Amino acid sequence: MGYTNTVYHQLLLFLVVHLLGVAVFVVARPATFYDDFSVTWEESHIRQIQGGTAIQLVLDQSSGCGFASKHKYLFGRVCMKIKLIPGDSAGTVTAFYMNSDTDTIRDELDFEFLGNRTGQPYTVQTNVYAHGKGDREQRVNLWFDPAADFHEYCILWTHEEVRFSVDGIPIRVFKNNEARGLPYPKFQPMGVYSTLWEADDWATRGGLEKIDWSKAPFYAYYKDFDIEGCTGPAAASCAENPNNWWEGPGYKQLDAEQARKYKWVRMNHMIYDYCTDKSRYPVPPPECMAGI
Ligand SMILES: *[C@@H]1O[C@H](CO)[C@@H](O)[C@H](O)[C@H]1NC(C)=O
Repeated sequence: MGYTNTVYHQLLLFLVVHLLGVAVFVVARPATFYDDFSVTWEESHIRQIQGGTAIQLVLDQSSGCGFASKHKYLFGRVCMKIKLIPGDSAGTVTAFYMNSDTDTIRDELDFEFLGNRTGQPYTVQTNVYAHGKGDREQRVNLWFDPAADFHEYCILWTHEEVRFSVDGIPIRVFKNNEARGLPYPKFQPMGVYSTLWEADDWATRGGLEKIDWSKAPFYAYYKDFDIEGCTGPAAASCAENPNNWWEGPGYKQLDAEQARKYKWVRMNHMIYDYCTDKSRYPVPPPECMAGI
C-alpha cells in the first residue's frame, strides 16, 4: 500500500510539474516518514509505526535521537503532529525546528518543548535566529496536556513574517523588519529537524529539576508530516513566486480572530519574553518596540 501511495504521489507530482510546464512549485505531503526525512542520530531510537506514517522517538540513558529532512526549503510552511512524553518528563527536551546549517550566518526557527514533573505544565520555548543573531527566546506554558494526545505545531515562513502556531493558534510572530534595518531570514534555505534529548542542566525550572532515569525509556510520537515549500535548484525563483499560497493575502498578517487568540496566549500563557527581560536587555531589542 505504501508503494502504491508513493507511485501515486510521484504520478501526481509528475502531472503537476508537466501541466504547469515548470518545476518551480513543490508541494510535499509525504505518505511516509522516510519519503521526506532520514535519521541523523541513533537509528535504533527512532521506530516507524503505523506503516511508516508515524514514528516513535526514544530517549534512554544510552542515547537520544534525531531526524532531518532530506531537502532544504525556502519559505513555506512546515507542520507536524506531536505527542510529547507523558508523566514525568522533567529534564527532557523535544525540539522541532528549521535551520540553515550555516554556522556563522545561521538562520533558525525553533520550537523546543521543555518537559516537566508529572502534573506541571510543559513549556514551549521559541527562538528566532536571523543572520547569526539569536537570543530571542519566548516561553509559553501550554493550556492543554500535550502528552495526552497529538497536537499540531506549525512554522509558517513568508516574506512578511515567521509565525509559530499550536493547533492553529499563533503563539509567536516575528515580522520582517528589514525596512528598519533588521536582518530577516530570507536568503538561505532551511532544513527541517527534530531531536529528543536530555538537557536537565537547564530545561526544567532552570535546571533545578533533574531527569528521573527510573522512568526511562521516554517516548515521543510524530505523525502527519507536512512540508510545503520551495526546494531544489529552482528554490530561489520559486520563493519569489507570488502565487505560492503562503504568500497570499491570508498569510501576510494575522486576521482579527487570530490576533485575538494571539493576544489571549500572550496575556494568559506567556511566562517569558526576552523583550521584557531587563536584566538581559536594559534597552529592549529594536524588534520589540511597540508597533514593530
Ligand atoms: C514546570 O512547572 C513549574 C511549576 O509549575 C513552572 O514554573 C515551569 O514554568 C514549568 N516548566 C518548566 C520548563 O520548568
